[in-house]
Amino acid sequence: MEKEKLKALKDDPVLFSRLILKFYPFDYQDRILEDESDRLIAICGRQVGKSTCSAIKLLRFAVTNPKTTSIVVSATLRQSMETFNKVLGFINSSILRNSVKRMTRTQIIFKNNSRIVCLPSGRYGSTLRGLTVHFAVIDEASFIYDEVIANAIFPMLTTTKGKIWMLTTPWDRDHITYRCFNSKDWSVYHFPSSKNPLIKEEFLDEQRQLIGEERYRLEYLAEFVDDSRSYFPMTLLRPCIDECLEESRLGGEYFAGYDPGGKESLAALVVIERLKDHLYTLYFRGVKDIPYTQFTVEIADLHKKFRFKSLAIDMTGLGNPIVEHARELDLPVDGFNLTQKFREELLSNLRILFEQRKVSLPQDTQFLGSLNCIEYERTRTGGYHFSHRQECLRIL
Ligand SMILES: Nc1ncnc2c1ncn2[C@@H]1O[C@H](COP(=O)(O)OP(=O)(O)OP(=O)(O)O)[C@@H](O)[C@H]1O
Ligand SMILES: [Mg+2]
Repeated sequence: MEKEKLKALKDDPVLFSRLILKFYPFDYQDRILEDESDRLIAICGRQVGKSTCSAIKLLRFAVTNPKTTSIVVSATLRQSMETFNKVLGFINSSILRNSVKRMTRTQIIFKNNSRIVCLPSGRYGSTLRGLTVHFAVIDEASFIYDEVIANAIFPMLTTTKGKIWMLTTPWDRDHITYRCFNSKDWSVYHFPSSKNPLIKEEFLDEQRQLIGEERYRLEYLAEFVDDSRSYFPMTLLRPCIDECLEESRLGGEYFAGYDPGGKESLAALVVIERLKDHLYTLYFRGVKDIPYTQFTVEIADLHKKFRFKSLAIDMTGLGNPIVEHARELDLPVDGFNLTQKFREELLSNLRILFEQRKVSLPQDTQFLGSLNCIEYERTRTGGYHFSHRQECLRIL
């Protein structure tokens, strides 16, 4: 009888979650957990429970399949650790802690000689090469460069005929996630954030107001974006996504850019470290409805830490008093007006830097979204006219 119970536990992932982990998945999570497909993609809104589902699946796979290697991988280590920490949390609060042989911040080895490893894909997938894997979970696959998934992640599974799961908020259509989402060979799920009963309608309404319709549709309705008219499409930005350390790297020079925004737009600050000919984004903050004096004081505090070589301030519109205030606070201000011509120059230089991959960008939807939503049209005189994308196109 005991044996039968154990077998039922082994065969039933939902029972495994409830009895062993003391975690009760929602119905839609049951469906994913019960899915044994080798190729699974779940396009979901924020906070649907992607990482939690991945953690349960990884754990169950490792404890029921001896001598296997599973990985959880994201563009950055910070992101893959979100899921890995959920795995650790489940282990530490359940009887599974007795099944662990060794555990570090990024690897668990079980007594059955299975292991779960947490990795960043990095920009080139170099951290992944050399591993042979039975089960790969790609958390937030939308942020990983297509070629890294195709040339570094899939090959790890060839000899083992391993499983691959991608759970992610969506982005553009020119990406492997969109192709898998539309493929008959993949087990496909689509869950907007409202699926999670813990997320209240009022919260969603508030988010819609706060982050705008476009980002809301991407992040909470889980709709793919049409970025074919973007000046900075995701195919261009994605290979630049990298760990954003918020700390000095190797002693380069620091620069900051401050856009005070306006009634409708965000106020934004970006801090960059320039080291040789590479630019690292160290810090980004975008806020709405904050008094400029408060933001400038915050920037002065950051200046104490970074010692900016210069702080570029967009004075177009309301900039003058802000520049004066920043000067009073001893900030190394470089005020400028964003004329049509200057904007064109600025954006085209930036695009070249992205093409040459001389910039590291954070895995941050707000940051990437503010670049990705810039659209362009050729004018009759041969220049560019820039605008912002208003709405994501529906595909569902
Ligand atoms: N079945 C459940 N019962 C109770 N809480 C749950 C359940 N599933 C998920 N949660 C909770 O919902 C929240 C979101 O879960 P999780 O972090 O797994 O979602 P996510 O989709 O990965 O989110 P993000 O978009 O931020 O990456 C967490 O606080 C998690 O504990
Ligand atoms: Mg997550």
